[in-house]
Amino acid sequence: LAPEIIGILKEPSYTTIAFAFDIDGVLVRSKDALPGAAKTIKMLQRRNIPFILLTNGGGSTEKDHVAILGRRLGLAGLHEKQFVQSHSPYHSLVPSLANKNILVLGGTGNKIREVAHAYGFKNVCIPSDFVKDNHHIHPFLELTKDYHHEHGNELPRMEDGRVQIHAILVWSSPRDEGLDKNLILDLLMSEQGIIGTVSPKNKNPSLPNNGFLQDGQPPVYFCNPDLTWATSYSIPRAAQGLFKAGLEGSWSALTNGADMSGHVHVFGKPTEATYIYGEKTLQDWHASINGPNAKLISTVYMIGDNPASDIQGSKNYRSRYGSEWKSVLVESGIHVAGTEPAHHPTHFAAGVKEAVELAMLEEGY
Ligand code: G3P
Ligand code: MG
Repeated sequence: LAPEIIGILKEPSYTTIAFAFDIDGVLVRSKDALPGAAKTIKMLQRRNIPFILLTNGGGSTEKDHVAILGRRLGLAGLHEKQFVQSHSPYHSLVPSLANKNILVLGGTGNKIREVAHAYGFKNVCIPSDFVKDNHHIHPFLELTKDYHHEHGNELPRMEDGRVQIHAILVWSSPRDEGLDKNLILDLLMSEQGIIGTVSPKNKNPSLPNNGFLQDGQPPVYFCNPDLTWATSYSIPRAAQGLFKAGLEGSWSALTNGADMSGHVHVFGKPTEATYIYGEKTLQDWHASINGPNAKLISTVYMIGDNPASDIQGSKNYRSRYGSEWKSVLVESGIHVAGTEPAHHPTHFAAGVKEAVELAMLEEGY
């Protein structure tokens, strides 16, 4: 298109601004709404300005999670179809893994098993199932043995009685990290993902990667690369990315530096996969609230508190729909006002209200 046509198309009468909101450190901290958050969202809802929630949090279905957020903000009208969380891209794994045995990690009780079932995964194991089957699988269960016995189910067995896991999916921060780490390492060292086996190929110097991960071991999926996140505590707390870092360190120490990268898949901000998923969700949501003749989305503002997650991800992302992605880094979460972020946003703002006001002013609203 000629530049003058592009100029006209960029005017608010032909196009619309849109937003992608991070949640923790932008709209809430732990269970508490941040100042201005509810009012800002209400204003966008009233004006039919499209927005999605794009969070590295998780642990519930999209429907339940958006309802929890609505309660925390005291807001009605938030919809699961505008909600993208860390494990939302796991929906894309359902066609290939629906009938396979998967091990899911994170969360408490049977919650993640239930969420995985709701996604469409049929054969879902949790670490408690393995403890219930044989509590010697982890030597340090003093604090958690009763808990695992309460929540564990029967393991799915092959005809010969053995248990095979085809994929490991981390859904949120593991609660019994020692057990979860042992289980993942066991499976990565196993023959074909069969629990209790050790691949005879491991440590064979004549094989690629010294024989490690050459024997049908299950892939590991992570959905939140964040090292830390903003909670009600005064300084940031460890997130799923630090569990992954710890696991990779353990693997490297155990295998004398064997490569596991080909076996690890990562979703969540700042990965491109999550931004592709998020932008598609935003476009679909826009069409559903503004109809098939909706204005084009010219600019998407990512409002976030974590430079490595929200800002880096939106800066690297190249829109599949011709929109421009900009970012505003707020000072109500991970980022501390006055410090130099590792990834520079388009703008800084004190909080979400100021961020949205600034973006709308810039786009001529
Ligand atoms: O990394 C933990 C997660 O809860 C962060 O959520 O909303 O800041 O992406 P969010
Ligand atoms: Mg955040």
